[in-house]
Amino acid sequence: MSLFSGIGAFEKALERLKIPYELVGYCEIDPFASKAYSLLHGVPESMNFGDITKLNEKILPDNIDLITYGFPCQDISIAGLQKGFTDVNGEKTRSGLFFDALRIIEHTQPQVAIAENVKNLAGKKFSKQFSIVLDSLEAAGYNNYWKILNAMDYEIPQNRERVLIVSIRKDIDTGIFQFPEPVPLKKCFGDMLEDEVPEKYFLTPEKVKKIEYSNFVQERTIIQDRGGSVEHC
Ligand SMILES: C[S@@+](CC[C@H](N)C(=O)[O-])C[C@H]1O[C@@H](n2cnc3c(N)ncnc32)[C@H](O)[C@@H]1O
Repeated sequence: MSLFSGIGAFEKALERLKIPYELVGYCEIDPFASKAYSLLHGVPESMNFGDITKLNEKILPDNIDLITYGFPCQDISIAGLQKGFTDVNGEKTRSGLFFDALRIIEHTQPQVAIAENVKNLAGKKFSKQFSIVLDSLEAAGYNNYWKILNAMDYEIPQNRERVLIVSIRKDIDTGIFQFPEPVPLKKCFGDMLEDEVPEKYFLTPEKVKKIEYSNFVQERTIIQDRGGSVEHC
């Protein structure tokens, strides 16, 4: 069962590891991501449960083996406003959708649940939120194993650090789980790029200018929201 499915990177990993699986369903609110998921994994969009907040956990089967959930990182990421799981009005933020994944895990009791988020979740600023995540999974009946992994240690030429939390149901946990050891990087970024790329995929100088301008406006807004000054941008 895939929550916050995006393009289904977890599923791609299962495929690459030649681990066969039968999809219970996926859960993705963005119609474009849903379409991409459906095409990439060859499943009908009718398998998309849509908005997780509206997903009634009671309709799900009780024999799910694995739930994956890369819950939204915007409110945790250093690139965002870092509100955490609730905003000033006590409302659940996008990253607070973790609690919807928790609700589904608590009810369905999969054998394993794997979460992925930005490294900042395991940092000092979010230690309270991270403890909530680990403690609530523990209370739901899981042993948690977590680690910050960098994509470039696993054959991907990209410096991308993410925290992964592997939660194994206590009654089946044998205690032997270990994160994989890093492997030497043999590829560079250029190796990943295609040689023949149609012209339409290149940005015109005008579009580059527009993107630079919108990035500038976004950064300025963040700094102003944080009470900083634009001069330090
Ligand atoms: C960090 S991305 C996950 C990426 C994913 N692991 C992948 O392999 O592409 C979070 C995803 O959650 C989706 N999302 C946000 N709010 C949601 C909601 N209420 N219900 C379902 N999906 C949601 C976003 O559209 C986004 O695709």
